[in-house]
Amino acid sequence: MPETVFVLNGPNLNLLGTREPEIYGSATLDDIAGMLEDRARELGLEIDLRQSNHEGHLVDWLHEAQAVGAKAVLLNAGAFTHTSVALHDAIKAIRTPVIEVHLSNPHTREAFRHKSFVGMAAKATIAGFGPLSYLLALEGAYRL
Ligand code: DQA
Repeated sequence: MPETVFVLNGPNLNLLGTREPEIYGSATLDDIAGMLEDRARELGLEIDLRQSNHEGHLVDWLHEAQAVGAKAVLLNAGAFTHTSVALHDAIKAIRTPVIEVHLSNPHTREAFRHKSFVGMAAKATIAGFGPLSYLLALEGAYRL
C-alpha cells in the first residue's frame, strides 16, 4: 500500500488561477494537484488533496491524517496561517509531520502576514516558489 501525503488547502485557494494572479500566478489548484500526483507516482506515494474555506474542516483533516497513518501533511492554510491558534494546536496535537506551504513569501508582504501560527508548530516551511512550493514540500515529505 503506497503511503499517503495529505495536501490541505485553506480559504480562497479554490480560486487559484483567477485570484490575484500577479501574486499567486495562473495555475489552478487542479493544476497543482496534477503536478503533485505525477511526482507522487514516481516516488511511490499517494496524494490526498483537499480544500476548504472553513477552519474546522482543516482541524478535522489534520486529526484524520494521523488517524489514517498519513506519511505527512502539506498545509497551505491561507489566511488562517496568520490567525488560527486552533490550527497551531491541531498540528501540535498530532505526531504526523506537517510542512507549511505558501505560494507567495508572506514575509515580503503586509506586516499582518509575518506571523504564522502554522509555522510556529510545523516541522518546516516552504514559501515563495509559486506552485513549485508544493512540489518542494513533497520532496521534503518523501525524505522524512
Ligand atoms: C498564502 C499566503 C497567505 O498570506 C494568504 O492569506 C493566502 C495564500 C500563499 O499561499 O501564499 O491565502 O497562503
